[in-house]
Amino acid sequence: MRKPFIAGNWKMNMDCAGAKALAAGLAEQLKSVDTVDVAVCPPSVYLQAVATELSSSNVALGSQNVYFEGNGAFTGELSCAMLKDVCCTYAIIGHSERRHVIGETDELINKKVTAAITGGLLPILCVGELLEEREAEKTTEVVTQQIKKGLAGVTAEKMLAVTIAYEPVWAIGTGKTATADQAQEVHAMIRALLAEMYDQTTADQVRIQYGGSAKPGNTAELMANPDVDGLLVGGAALKVEDFAAMIKTVA
Ligand code: 13P
Repeated sequence: MRKPFIAGNWKMNMDCAGAKALAAGLAEQLKSVDTVDVAVCPPSVYLQAVATELSSSNVALGSQNVYFEGNGAFTGELSCAMLKDVCCTYAIIGHSERRHVIGETDELINKKVTAAITGGLLPILCVGELLEEREAEKTTEVVTQQIKKGLAGVTAEKMLAVTIAYEPVWAIGTGKTATADQAQEVHAMIRALLAEMYDQTTADQVRIQYGGSAKPGNTAELMANPDVDGLLVGGAALKVEDFAAMIKTVA
């Protein structure tokens, strides 16, 4: 049985006071929730401040990125050890904004996934197709490539550390959510692919989140799908009431 996992990706939003208030509000609202794993991923400059607010809560902390090297001359990057030092449990890797705005490749993403697992962070590997790829009926091909390349060299045992987030790029920040059927179709395809790459037991244990305009009003419908195990939430994760409402719906 896969425990639902809802994570908030705050992206490049908030200031320090706002980040602390959001974290404190969630810690308070979600005190009695223990049937859902919850995490928030603030901008890295606010990780430590947010960690303090979450210290005695059941909300975990994640980063929005990680670098694959341990230390040294890598200006602007953050290592697994640094992120763990400020209490991160998870790391979002290969988000579509990093793929398509910053230019990250599957090869770089694979190095980050591998380094995160080795370094003791739990990767949330994001995959998803562009609108033109969906329209050209290339969703399966694109997502399959992203998963195979992103997970190259990851063993079945290590795979248990990984969450996959399916985020169709055309649904991110657009208000256009994938329908529950569209989400389920791709999630089932991803699980079948994991069974082929690993084995059915492993595939059955990996959590697959949906992301892309998830909000309180569509949470129940999306989460009712057998292969949708959680949500990776952008905009709606920036408001205590919305994010808490989504988690309570799932709980
Ligand atoms: P929105 O929920 O704002 O569409 O963002 C989704 C996302 O990119 C989460 O990582």
